[in-house]
Amino acid sequence: MSKKLWGGRFSKDMDAFVSEWAASVGYDYVLYRDDITGSIAHAKMLAKQGIITEEDAQNIEAGLNEILADIEDGKMEWSADNEDVHMNIEALLTEKIGEAGKRLHTARSRNDQVATDIRLFTKNEILEVARLLASLRRTVVNIAKDHTLTIMPGYTHMQHAQPVSLGFHMMAYYQMFTRDADRFWDIYKRVDFLPLGSGAMSGTTYDTDRQFLADELGFAHLCVNAMDAVSDRDFIIEFLSASSITMMHLSRFCEELILWSSSEFGFVEMDDSFSTGSSIMPQKKNPDMAELIRGKVGRVYGDLFSLLTTMKSLPLAYNKDMQEDKEPLFDASNTVQSCLKVFTDMLASARWKPANMQQMAERGFMNATDAADYLVTKGLPFREAHAVIGKIVAYCVDEKINIEDVPLGKLQEFSELFDNDIFEKIDLTYCMNAKLSKGSTARKEVELQILAAENDLD
Ligand code: ARG
Repeated sequence: MSKKLWGGRFSKDMDAFVSEWAASVGYDYVLYRDDITGSIAHAKMLAKQGIITEEDAQNIEAGLNEILADIEDGKMEWSADNEDVHMNIEALLTEKIGEAGKRLHTARSRNDQVATDIRLFTKNEILEVARLLASLRRTVVNIAKDHTLTIMPGYTHMQHAQPVSLGFHMMAYYQMFTRDADRFWDIYKRVDFLPLGSGAMSGTTYDTDRQFLADELGFAHLCVNAMDAVSDRDFIIEFLSASSITMMHLSRFCEELILWSSSEFGFVEMDDSFSTGSSIMPQKKNPDMAELIRGKVGRVYGDLFSLLTTMKSLPLAYNKDMQEDKEPLFDASNTVQSCLKVFTDMLASARWKPANMQQMAERGFMNATDAADYLVTKGLPFREAHAVIGKIVAYCVDEKINIEDVPLGKLQEFSELFDNDIFEKIDLTYCMNAKLSKGSTARKEVELQILAAENDLD
């Protein structure tokens, strides 16, 4: 006779290696709190409906709370013989309280139980990720506020393009992280459906009260179809997808911080507490944490692809394949949360170097567009203005000077439309603040973006 909880029809035990190999308790034990919360609600519901006695329900609740305390005190001995977190807890409950423990699983299957546990778990993780994103967004806004007039080169193709403020650059990331948070909140709405009460796949013959369960467990809705309730994991895939996008955004920001900390740029210096040295080169200070976050994007993308692939072509309803949903979920959730935390603290402690940014912004003729616009205001068609400034730039490259260093007389050889006011019009701060369009890098516009962000974060 098999020793398993489900061993009734089996005449011998599972192969020892296979039993250990197939067990998920080694990682799904992290669901213990959700599993116990779900079981207590289920026991209350069974008693309310007269399916078990009030006394049994009270014993179950007390026993489960004792187990919860044991687990949190590190006293629980998880056993692979009991496969997963659900059966480990149930077996221990029965050991503790006897008969009543065996009644807990009435009108329930592990299929609706595990689906409920991971929805509870995912809801909590979303709240945590959104909280961390809010703190990152706040940090980004704080930097932006201090740097609405700090000029740096704006790049396209990694070539100097147009002057922008560091504050403007920061607020670009603010928008990305805000959309990331919105994505998680949107997913939350779809996770907020209760599977419990769906049974193995087709419902239950007991007169249960699923609405009571939803109210107890804080779910906004009931899963509508029992088969869908136990079969689907799309909400985890959505979580992994939103996590991947957030990590992708972090990796772009990290990449910029890494570049900007190099001596070629020198725009920023990471705090010592977020850097490492070299075992051989005494002069080195490496932006390791930014690199590590950039590197960890790979595993989160992997988690997404792993579960997408596991779920592909699975027939309805539950299949054991679906046990493979856990590790990607846990890994991605831990990774995105720890990366957000490290990144936010690293960013908040970084030291900016506005003088170097300004110096670099003065190179690369970033006021060339503005010089062309100047000629347009004097009546030249834009295409012709573009050509005139192109020639001036070529002249400056030869002479190794900037446009603003060319004397007026020389400028007038290229076009007689130039006048003395050209110099103020191609000053970098002037160029930046002259941008009139909504959402531009002009100080006034960046301040509006900051104001909207602060209202949003309050
Ligand atoms: N550990 C299992 C999982 O995570 C629980 C569900 C088991 N259900 C079953 N019918 N074997 O998927």
